[in-house]
Amino acid sequence: MSAPIAPLLSRRDVIAGCAALGLATAADAAGEPGLAEVAARRGILFGSAVAWGGQGSDTGSFANPRYAALLERDCAVLVPENELKWQATRPGPRLFDFARMDAIADYATDRHMRLRGHTLFWVPPQWYPDWLRDHDFGSRPAQAVEAMLVEHVRTVCARYGSRIFSYDVVNEAIQPETGAIRDTVVTKALGGEAMLDLLFHSARAEAPHAQLVYNDYMSWERGTEDESHIRGVLKLLEGFRKRNTPVDALGVQSHIRLLKSDPVAAIVKESAGPWRRFLDEVVAMGFDLVITEFDVNDRKAPADIAARDGAVADYAQAYLDIMFSYPQLREMLVWGLSDRYSWLEGFDPRADKLPKRGLPYDREFRAKPLRSAIARALAGAPRREPLRPAG
Ligand code: G3I
Repeated sequence: MSAPIAPLLSRRDVIAGCAALGLATAADAAGEPGLAEVAARRGILFGSAVAWGGQGSDTGSFANPRYAALLERDCAVLVPENELKWQATRPGPRLFDFARMDAIADYATDRHMRLRGHTLFWVPPQWYPDWLRDHDFGSRPAQAVEAMLVEHVRTVCARYGSRIFSYDVVNEAIQPETGAIRDTVVTKALGGEAMLDLLFHSARAEAPHAQLVYNDYMSWERGTEDESHIRGVLKLLEGFRKRNTPVDALGVQSHIRLLKSDPVAAIVKESAGPWRRFLDEVVAMGFDLVITEFDVNDRKAPADIAARDGAVADYAQAYLDIMFSYPQLREMLVWGLSDRYSWLEGFDPRADKLPKRGLPYDREFRAKPLRSAIARALAGAPRREPLRPAG
C-alpha cells in the first residue's frame, strides 16, 4: 500500500495560479453548487444587483446571455442597480415610468427569484431627477412634499405588490462628515426625522408583507468620517425605535475598501473590534441586518493579479465571517457579479489605472478567488432561521 501523497499546492495556490494564467478555476466546473444554493443551506438568501439592458447590449443585464447565466446559477434574489430609483422612474413631477423596472421584475418572477426594491427614496440631492433638485413646492411645501412622497410609495408598492419582499425604504440619509440627517429640499420641507418616518409608515401601510430597510454605506474601515457616519446611523436607529418607526433592518451596503497597502490581517485587526461593537448595538435594538451591495474596492491592493485577487478574497472573507456570525443576517447581495460592469470601474481609480477586480467574476465571466471566499464564508456560516415576512 502506498503512503498518502501530501498535496504540493493548496487549493488557494491552485486558484491563484489559475487566475494569474487567465484560466477558469474549479468554480467554473459544471456541478459546483451555485452561491444561492450554498447560502440556502445556511438559511441565507444570496443574490445580486442587475441592470436593465436592451437585447444584445453589453451590460450587467438579464438580457445579456453571458450575464444571465451567472445570475441564474448564483442568485435567488435580485435587486435593480438603478431602475427603481427616482432618476429612472420619475421623469417629471407627475410622471412615472416603470418600463425598465417592469422588465427586471418580470425576469425575476419568471425565474422564481425574489426581488428587493432599491430604493423608495435616495436622500442626497445629487441623485434626484433634475426636476426635483430645484422644484418649487409652492406656498405649503410641507403638504406638497408629503403628498409627493406618499404618492410615490403608494404607486411603487401597488405596482409590485408581493413581488418585492424587501425595500430599501430610505437610502443614505446621514451626512458622513457630521452624522446628521442630510439637509435637502425634501428633508427641509418636513424636517428630517418626520420625512423619514413618513416614508417608513407609508411603506408599512402600502406593503405590509415587506421587510423595511434603512440602507447606508457606513463602513468597517477606520477613518474620521467613518466614525461620525457610524455614530450618526446609530443615533438615527435609536430615534426610529423611540418613535416606533416601522424599520425592520439595517442595510449594510458593504462596499468594503482596501485603501491601504498594509497586510490584510493588519487592516482587519484594526477594523474588527469597533465594527463588532457597532453591529452589537444595532442588533441589541432589535434590527435585523442585510448585506445589500457587497463589493471590494481594491484601489490599494497589489497590481499583480494573483496577489490582488488573494488580498481581495482574504479581506472579503474576514469581513463576511464577522457579518455571518450574526444570526440576524439572512440576506446577502453583491453589487453585480462581473468586474466588466462594476460601478467601481469609474469610481476612485487606482493610481496605476489598472482595472478594478472587486466582484466574484472577472471581465470574461471567469470565477475568481473572491467567489470561492464568498462560498466559504456562506458554507461556514452558522445555520439560521430563514427570513420570515414582516408585518
Ligand atoms: O443610463 C444612462 C445612459 O442612458 C446615459 O447615456 C449615461 C451617461 O452618463 O448614463 C447612464 O446612467 C448611468 C447609470 O449609472 C447607468 O449606467 C448614470 O449616469 C450613473 O450615475 C449611474 O450610476 C449608478 C449610481 O448608483 C448612481 O445612480 C451606478 O450604476 C450604481 O452602481 C450606483 O449604485 C449605488 C447605490 O444605488 C447606492 N449605494 C452606492 C452605490 C454605488 O455608488
